[in-house]
Amino acid sequence: MLIDTSVSSANLLGFISLLTYILTLLPSSIRIVFPQIKKAKITMNLLKYRRQLGILAFIFALIHAGLIIVKRNVDLFDLQTYKISLEGTVTLIMFAILAVTSNDWSIKKMKKHWRKLHKSTYVCMFLILWHIKEKMYGHWNIITLIEIILMTVTIVLFFRRRWLEHYK
Ligand code: HEM
Repeated sequence: MLIDTSVSSANLLGFISLLTYILTLLPSSIRIVFPQIKKAKITMNLLKYRRQLGILAFIFALIHAGLIIVKRNVDLFDLQTYKISLEGTVTLIMFAILAVTSNDWSIKKMKKHWRKLHKSTYVCMFLILWHIKEKMYGHWNIITLIEIILMTVTIVLFFRRRWLEHYK
C-alpha cells in the first residue's frame, strides 16, 4: 500500500483531537499498568488537566468535522450524511456530552451517574478506531499509520488495566 505524505488541515485536526483524547485516557491506565510512574510529574499533570484536555479534544474534533463539512459541501439537512459518518457523528456527540459535563457543578448534580457517564469515554476508543479505518480506507497517509498504532496501544493498555484490576 502506498502511503501519502501530504496531510490536509482537516485530517491534521482529527489527529490532534485523537492525541488530546488519548492523553485523557493515559493516567488511569498508567496508574494500574505502570504503578512505578504513577507519581511522575507528567502523569500527575495529565490527571490534573484531564478535564481541560477532554474539552480540547472535543473542540479539535468539532473543527475537524466542520472543515470536512465545508470542504466537501456536505448537506447537513440530508439524513444520509449522518448515516455515512455514523461513527464520527456518534463520537462527536459523546465528546460534546462529556465536555459539557466536565465541571464540578455536573459532578455534584449527577452524583454516581456522572462516573457512569464518563466511563462511556472508553467506547469512543473503538468508535474512533472504526472511524479511521472506515474513512481512510485505501488512502492512508503518514499520520493514519501513527493513529492506528497509538489507538491500538491505548486499547491494549486499557484491556491490560482491566485485567489487572480484576485479577490482582
Ligand atoms: C470525535 C470525533 C472525531 C474524531 C476524533 C475524528 C478523527 C479523525 C481522524 C483521526 C481521521 C484520520 C485522519 C488521517 O489519518 O489523515 C479522520 C478522518 C475523517 N473524518 Fe473524522 N473524526 C471525528 C468526527 C468526524 C465527523 C463528525 C465527521 C463528519 C463530518 C468526520 C469525517 C471524517 C472524514 C470524511 C475523514 C476522512 C478524511 C479523508 O478522506 O482524508 N469525522 N477523523
